[in-house]
Amino acid sequence: MQTGLRGRDLISDLDFTKEEVETVLDVAWDLKKKRAMSQEHAILRDKVLAMLFFFSSTRTRGSFEAGMAQLGGHAAFIESRTTQISHGDTEKELGDIFGRYFDGIAIRHVDWGIGNKYLNLVAEASRVPVLNMQCEIYHPHQCLADIMTIIEKKGRDLRKKKMVVSWAYAASYLKPMSVPQSLILQMPRFGMDVTLAHPPEFKLMPDIMEQAQEQAKKFNTNFEVVDDMDEACKDADVIYAKSWGPLMTTHDPDEGKVIQDKYEDWIADDAKMALGKEDVIYMHPLPADRKIEVTDSVIDGPHSVVFDQAENRLHAQKGVMALTMS
Ligand code: CP
Repeated sequence: MQTGLRGRDLISDLDFTKEEVETVLDVAWDLKKKRAMSQEHAILRDKVLAMLFFFSSTRTRGSFEAGMAQLGGHAAFIESRTTQISHGDTEKELGDIFGRYFDGIAIRHVDWGIGNKYLNLVAEASRVPVLNMQCEIYHPHQCLADIMTIIEKKGRDLRKKKMVVSWAYAASYLKPMSVPQSLILQMPRFGMDVTLAHPPEFKLMPDIMEQAQEQAKKFNTNFEVVDDMDEACKDADVIYAKSWGPLMTTHDPDEGKVIQDKYEDWIADDAKMALGKEDVIYMHPLPADRKIEVTDSVIDGPHSVVFDQAENRLHAQKGVMALTMS
């Protein structure tokens, strides 16, 4: 177990070492058990977390807010549009001032080329931890909940387990690519063989791909990229299929939609699940475009773990907050 996380930021998935992530998971399971047994765990009594949102959220807001309350503290929900940010508050001012009011600053900012820089500039100016509630590059707290869920379903020894991170069709909007990027960075550290599947226009960021290859090499796991969802799903232990925008190809929503619409058959359906192992699990961070990105029979079916996965957001984030903000 690694200690020494007090005061640390979590912006990129690799900000914490593998051993530090394991510590977060150990604490998360302990807190999960305590909550299940109604045992008090007010580790952050009188502490306050600022939750600054530049983009909508259901699970992230709910789980951070509930988590802080369960840890004996409080979370302040702040929407960027009701602040003075648009009238001139800079990242440095926000980091310095909020660092004096709060014990942690959590931010969601997914604007392309802006969000991650914003978080890092706030962190530079802040005396308290900055936690990434999703930027355009990473979604580290989602990924912690994901690895927690996979371990609960598949056991601690994940070596040689095949994880498919697949693009899926969606019609709603061009979704960020932070979830697949976080997954390909973190999962090799836990011994999983990762297969990334996407149509050609849906490439991930080159430097993230390079880092994922490095992690796979370092942890002696396999990392491959294919452009066929059926091929990817063969013999899978985990099928994590979600949409992201063709953001390395275009940022124009209309052009992006035309590209997305070419791939309507990239849907997580019973036929795709049948290609996986008998005990394959289906994962999605939610919200999903039902009947488009995934069929009801899959997301509500016996292989789906999406509700356990959503629950684990709460416990994983409590682990991070307890270790960084206490
Ligand atoms: N998975 C996730 O981050 O959900 P929200 O966008 O609802 O927070």
